[in-house]
Amino acid sequence: MRFDVITLFPELFAPFMTVGVTRRAFESGQVDVRLWPLRDFASDNYRRVDDRPYGGGPGMVMLAEPLLKALGAVRNARSEAGATAGPVIHFSPTGRPINQALLRELAQGPGATLLCGRYEGIDQRVLDREVDLELSLGDFVLSGGELPALALLDGIARLQEGVLSDARSHEQDSFEDGLLDCPHYSRPEVLALPEGDQPVPPVLLSGHHADIARWRRERSLSLTAQRRPDLIAAARAAGRLSKADERYLATLAL
Ligand SMILES: C[S@@+](CC[C@H](N)C(=O)[O-])C[C@H]1O[C@@H](n2cnc3c(N)ncnc32)[C@H](O)[C@@H]1O
Repeated sequence: MRFDVITLFPELFAPFMTVGVTRRAFESGQVDVRLWPLRDFASDNYRRVDDRPYGGGPGMVMLAEPLLKALGAVRNARSEAGATAGPVIHFSPTGRPINQALLRELAQGPGATLLCGRYEGIDQRVLDREVDLELSLGDFVLSGGELPALALLDGIARLQEGVLSDARSHEQDSFEDGLLDCPHYSRPEVLALPEGDQPVPPVLLSGHHADIARWRRERSLSLTAQRRPDLIAAARAAGRLSKADERYLATLAL
């Protein structure tokens, strides 16, 4: 799959794409990321890509013309390479929140063109004409779309086959089954802390797989019920909660 990223700051991408488990996906081209520096598409000598907003007010707006040229160049390059066009995604706090279901969907697709905003945002006429999907990283405002783009690429890369050394890793992650993940523990069995020894929950040392699975499921249910009751409601509506899950949830004093 191929991702074409239109950005004012292409240099932000390399440090993230050359480290950690996802590096394999990027370096092998399994997730093929092409960077398009927006200033290359500016038409004046100053390589200007922003200007003041009509109607006045603070801040600058990203100019339509360099963006349209860049999008045209990406479209041509994808078509010449025989890559499916894929959606054009713009990152914006006004967009649909990114979630795991969306990452899974994109991880099985042909890739996309990612448009990273800066300043006050992009001239609306570009968005109206060119953008298929607007995505938000959350209800807060960043100074650019590069971090949301990297978050999306990282989330997609780790879903690619062979990227995680154990394919079951992401199956156990938060949201994969609609719930939050359970807590994890490793050595030592007893952690000596100034406030007292902290042992690992004994069930995890029992070797009893069914009990361990049940303990993990219950921790996952209780954490989700406390922190994200909306996810419990969604899992219930989707028929993802077993009778044992419901019995356990009924015991929780929330
Ligand atoms: C300073 S922000 C512009 C915010 C915009 N005026 C608003 O209030 O919706 C500059 C750029 O950062 C990106 N951005 C900021 N916060 C974001 C978020 N939560 N999710 C996705 N992109 C974001 C967008 O590309 C945006 O165009």
